[in-house]
Amino acid sequence: MKKALLIVAALATTSSALAAGKLEIFSWWSGDEGPALEALIKLYKQKYPSVTVDNATVSGGAGTNAKAVLKTRMLGGTPPDSFQAHAGQELIGTWVVANRMEDLSSLFQSEGWNKVFPADVVKLISTDKGIWSVPVNVHRSNVLWYNPAKLKEWGVSVPKTWPEFLSTCATLKSKGVAAPLVVGENWTQQHLWENVMVGTLGAQNWENLWNGKLKFTDPKVVAAFTTFNKVMDCANKDASGLSWQQASDRVVSGQSAFNVMGDWAAGYFTTTKKLEPGKGFGWATAPGTAKTFVMLADSFGLPKGAKDRAEAIAWLKVLGSKQGQDTFNPLKGSIAARTDSDLSKYNTYSRSAATDWKNSKIVGSMAHGAVAPESFTSAFGAVIDQLVATKNSAGAAAAAQQLATRAGIGK
Ligand code: GAL
Repeated sequence: MKKALLIVAALATTSSALAAGKLEIFSWWSGDEGPALEALIKLYKQKYPSVTVDNATVSGGAGTNAKAVLKTRMLGGTPPDSFQAHAGQELIGTWVVANRMEDLSSLFQSEGWNKVFPADVVKLISTDKGIWSVPVNVHRSNVLWYNPAKLKEWGVSVPKTWPEFLSTCATLKSKGVAAPLVVGENWTQQHLWENVMVGTLGAQNWENLWNGKLKFTDPKVVAAFTTFNKVMDCANKDASGLSWQQASDRVVSGQSAFNVMGDWAAGYFTTTKKLEPGKGFGWATAPGTAKTFVMLADSFGLPKGAKDRAEAIAWLKVLGSKQGQDTFNPLKGSIAARTDSDLSKYNTYSRSAATDWKNSKIVGSMAHGAVAPESFTSAFGAVIDQLVATKNSAGAAAAAQQLATRAGIGK
C-alpha cells in the first residue's frame, strides 16, 4: 500500500519540477503527417515553457520504419522519453511482455482517466499487471474515400458491397479508368486486406479469426482471399512505390476513383490539402462494413529508464487531457479517445465518425496493432507480398494459419 502511494506521488509531478528540462518524443508523424503532433507540442510548450522538446520522428506510414528504429534504441538502452505505439498487441505483445514499460495505473487514477476513456479502450492498453499507455485518439480503418465530382462525371455511385465494388470497377475500366482503385506500399495492402475480410466475412467472423474460432483455411476465408485478389486487379500496378499520401493524391486528382484508408486521410485532405469534407473528398464505410467500426488508437507510453521521466509524465498528462485531445484530433482526422470531447471543434467527417463510434459494432484493426498478436502482424506483410505476386489464395490462407497457430491463436 505504502509503495502504491509513493508511485502515485512520483507520477503526479507538477510543472514546478520541470525547470529547464528536456523531452524527447518519438513517433512516425513527420512531414505532412506532422501538424497535429506539432499542435500538441505547442500546447505542451505553453504549459511547460522551460522544457526543450525534441520531436524525433522516423517517417514512414503506419510506423513501419519507426518501429525498427525504436527496437534498436530500446534494446540498446537509450529509449526515447515517450514513444508512439498502437493501443493493443503492438505494445502489449512487445515492450510490455519484455518488462520495458512503466505501469501507468496510478496516472490513470490521479487524472481520472478510467472514467473518461471508454472501458474497451482501457482494456486494450491493459494487462492484469497494469495500464501501459495513454491513448491520444481513435482512428477508423474502414473508410472508402472518393472524389464526389469525379464519381458524378463517371456516372457511378459508391459501392456498398465488395461484389458491387467489382462491378463498379468493371464499369470504370470500360470508361477508360485504368486503375479504379489506388493502393500504396505493402502496409496499405494489408490495410485493404483487412477491410475486404471484414466486409466479406462480417465483424463476428473477423473477431473469430483472432480468437481461434475460425481458421484462415476455412473455405469462406479462402474465398475472401480470392475476393481480395479480384479487388487488387482493380488497382494501380505501381502500388509498392506509393506512400499512403501519394495514393490519396490520386483520388483527389481523379486518376483513380477509390482508396481504402484509415481516417488519417481525412486529416491529410483537410489539414494539408485544405479540402472541404463532402466537396473536395467524399467518404463512405468500406464495402460491406456499414454497421462496423474497425478501430485503432495511437497511444504513448513511458519506457523504463526514460532520461526525462518527469517531463514525459507531463507530456502524457497533456495528451490525455481534454484540451490536448481536442487540439490534436481535429487536425489529425481521428476522434478523441475521451468521451467528453467538444465535437464543435471537429469537421463533418469527424462528427460522422464520432456518431458511428457510438452506434457501430467495434472491432480492432490487425494492420494497426490492435487485434492480432504482434508476431502475426509483423510477419503478415510477407504473406501479402506473396499473395499479390502469385494470387494463390489457398497458399496465403495456409501461410496465415501457420502464423496464427505459431502465435498461439486458439490455444
Ligand atoms: C497509422 C497510425 C495513424 C497514421 C497512419 C499513417 O498506423 O495509427 O495515426 O499515422 O498510420 O502513418
